[in-house]
Amino acid sequence: KEISKIRASLLKWYDINRRDLPWRRISDEKSEVDEGRKAYAVWVSEVMLQQTRVQTVIDYFNRWMEKWPTIHHLAQASLEEVNDTWAGLGYYRRARYLLEGAKMIVDGGGEFPKTASSLQTVNGIGNYTAGAIASIAFKEAVPVVDGNVIRVITRLKAISANPKDSKTVKSIWKLAGQLVDPSRPGAFNQAVMELGATLCSVTSPGCSTCPISLECQALSLSTNHESVQVTDY
Ligand code: ADE
Repeated sequence: KEISKIRASLLKWYDINRRDLPWRRISDEKSEVDEGRKAYAVWVSEVMLQQTRVQTVIDYFNRWMEKWPTIHHLAQASLEEVNDTWAGLGYYRRARYLLEGAKMIVDGGGEFPKTASSLQTVNGIGNYTAGAIASIAFKEAVPVVDGNVIRVITRLKAISANPKDSKTVKSIWKLAGQLVDPSRPGAFNQAVMELGATLCSVTSPGCSTCPISLECQALSLSTNHESVQVTDY
């Protein structure tokens, strides 16, 4: 019951507060026909978002998608063109991985891998990007864990272990996997990421308007004046 409350409150909050972003317009399209297009848009946007703020990514994403609307277009690009379009985003290795990944998928018949585990066989797609593509484009009930998600979950569960420790991160992936709403995994994962990026901030979390404050163990411990070390990751 607690878990269903968390899911319902988070999704309700997300439906009201979500930002209208170009990649969300694509991944929200009704058709099941073009899942490959959704997967491609999610892939490009998530790779860009790994190092750059949303506001900056919007223009880069639109330019990229105009130039290469599908992985088939991208697979024909040269590394120079890709680097030119990436210029300013930094970490050029990620642009090269997108190009190499597109070539891999196209050479293998053009069908996007549809599960988080098979997506990780593509060059440059790790567990984070695989989780994002699988949940948002293919509705697989798998988690996505980034720095924001780590902070939300360590607070929600009052986890005091070092969040930079790989064992802690592993257990957070596991918790996130239990939490993800199987009926709307993509929206749920984006809701947690967005909560962490906005309300559940490092230094001044907006607990008074947080949709899951009643379930938050860190908040409950602090209002009970118990001492708990909740990480500021
Ligand atoms: N940060 C990175 N990817 C995101 C997404 N899909 N939604 C919200 N915040 C994000």
